[in-house]
Amino acid sequence: MGSRSTRKKKKAVARRAAAENLKVQTKQEAEEQTVQVDPEVMDSEAQAEEETRAEAAEVQAEEETDSQNQDKRDRVFVRRFEKHLDELKWLYIELYENDSMFAELCDNLYRFYEERNKELKGIDSAREADPNWYKSNDMLGMMLYIDNFAGNMKGVQEKLDYLEKCNVNYIHLMPFLDTVEGRSDGGYAVADFRKVQEKLGTMEDLEDLTAACHKKNMNVCMDFVMNHTSQDHEWAKRARQGDGEYMSRYFFFNNDTIPKMYEQTVPQVFPTTAPGNFTWLPDVGHFVMTSFYPYQWDLNYKNPRVFNEMMYNFLYLANKGIDIIRIDAVPYIWKELGTQCRNLKQVHTIVRMMRIISEIVCPSVLLLGEVVMEPEKVVPYFGTVEKPECHMLYNVTTMATTWHTVATRDVSLLKKQLDIVNGLPKEYVFLNYLRCHDDIGWGLDYGTLMTEGKGERSHKQYLNDYFQGIAGESNSRGELYNADPVSGDARFCATTASMCGIEKAGFEQDAAAMERAIRFDVTLHAYMFMQSGIPVLYSGDEIAQVNDYTYKEDSNKADDSRYIHRGRMNWENAAKTNDPSTVEGKIFGSLGKLEKIRKSEKAFVSYADSWTIDTWDAGILGMGRYYDGDKIIGFFNFSENDRIAWVNETDGIYEDILTGQIVQPVALNVPAYGFYYLKKIN
Ligand code: GLC
Repeated sequence: MGSRSTRKKKKAVARRAAAENLKVQTKQEAEEQTVQVDPEVMDSEAQAEEETRAEAAEVQAEEETDSQNQDKRDRVFVRRFEKHLDELKWLYIELYENDSMFAELCDNLYRFYEERNKELKGIDSAREADPNWYKSNDMLGMMLYIDNFAGNMKGVQEKLDYLEKCNVNYIHLMPFLDTVEGRSDGGYAVADFRKVQEKLGTMEDLEDLTAACHKKNMNVCMDFVMNHTSQDHEWAKRARQGDGEYMSRYFFFNNDTIPKMYEQTVPQVFPTTAPGNFTWLPDVGHFVMTSFYPYQWDLNYKNPRVFNEMMYNFLYLANKGIDIIRIDAVPYIWKELGTQCRNLKQVHTIVRMMRIISEIVCPSVLLLGEVVMEPEKVVPYFGTVEKPECHMLYNVTTMATTWHTVATRDVSLLKKQLDIVNGLPKEYVFLNYLRCHDDIGWGLDYGTLMTEGKGERSHKQYLNDYFQGIAGESNSRGELYNADPVSGDARFCATTASMCGIEKAGFEQDAAAMERAIRFDVTLHAYMFMQSGIPVLYSGDEIAQVNDYTYKEDSNKADDSRYIHRGRMNWENAAKTNDPSTVEGKIFGSLGKLEKIRKSEKAFVSYADSWTIDTWDAGILGMGRYYDGDKIIGFFNFSENDRIAWVNETDGIYEDILTGQIVQPVALNVPAYGFYYLKKIN
């Protein structure tokens, strides 16, 4: 639309020029006509003059509306800009002390605002008027790999009906920007922020897809990988050629003195698949900082050019119709010698500036921070109510604690974790999930576990053994990730279905075990839907996709066990969702019911009161939600035995939302791996 309006303006200018030209001609002709008086010519000349005048009036009117519209548009920008200017300038100058770069940034904010199309500006205004739009109970996300799911972007567009059938109104398209095969880290090593991977489509396809999603009221999320670029990015290539301007966009060192000093305090992200935080480049004779894989070069945000250019990339992508920007690995973006290079205060300055920038240019866009850290490190990324940073954050500790609960059949730590989350301001929106594309890191509250006699190392070992299916009466299947022989630490990878026992039961053709595994899978989703925030499904979980071991045959993937849960969508299995006698049909049907309940019951809004309920049984988790007269309580049995929740909710009559039966929530019998959603009906 931006280009359409420019075209219109150009057309108007051209027409005015044409009209001016006509005026001149007719004047000349009129002078000549005083000599040759020909009535016919007079008539046609009068007509031409009349036409010219009409045309000029039309052009002028059009210009006036154009300029009125322009004024209106400018006023919107100016209002937002003025609201934030002081703070933005203060933060920028504090960090960079560079007025001309700040002025350049401001000019570009206007440029990106101008380029934003009419439809997106419409969404901006609507969401500005309803800033809590994403906190209601109708949001349900799904994350998917474009190629695994449907080949390419056009394929995803063709599958939007399927996604609607999954009740999904927010899709996270896993990294799709240009990257080099074999050096891509699943797309998190971006070689060009303005180009889509050829095999997935083009920027036009992305625009078509986001527009098609918006027609279906579906939001689109993408990753903004701002901590690093790929070594194949233009900047990195130039830096590699020794161009100082580009070297200053990264961290280069011509000897190992400073890298060694960093290594003393900076932990490792991939201790076995990519040890260390620096990579030696023999051709340049320099070390470059690489916190992740050696081909992912950390950007130096101390350089304002890096910040400005990355903000332009962010706005460019937002203008393609992206609704949710997932800020990848955000805690890592600022480095200081002598620190862990995580969560430094400058990171918060940058995220706050990003929030302001998006509120000026594209206020409909949400920022989702990827902060895979303990709760006290995560929460500051929301900022404050007056100076917010991210709109949403991953509920990562709750996710890890959920799987700990699965392996221990003891809900006490999970209850404690949920109490922490429930105690946070209701403005905070968490993204809840059971599984995502990454490994599960066992970031648990070891202080509390210690009091139960569980040491960190031995407990992690137990969890990893349990989920590999080799300890503790486990039905899980999966693989370790980045097992560190030195620290004994390891993380874990597998799909939800495999971790719930569906893979094992299927392999062993054990119908009873399968029934149990399905029930547990559904119960875990029911529990996840009851948490405050936005639930996000991992593509394939809706049909209980199990682990995919074929990654081992691909040399580009074989070392990275995260690919075990990044398998191709099995459309043959997806076709069985209408058949309730199949595993797929059972899971899909049950999740569908839960999703509809969640969307129709207002107690599920993100800002409802939420609490946990004592059940006096270690295996059963009790949760409650209340909003505007509606109360729902839930009980989830994490054990393989029928158990009694010793509750005494006698404040009224309750109905089992799924069966419609009236239930007295007193000494409630919760079936093995089963659950209840109970609604107070008076
Ligand atoms: C994030 C991604 C992960 C990737 C890393 C580096 O943590 O979720 O998949 O490896 O960033 O970009």
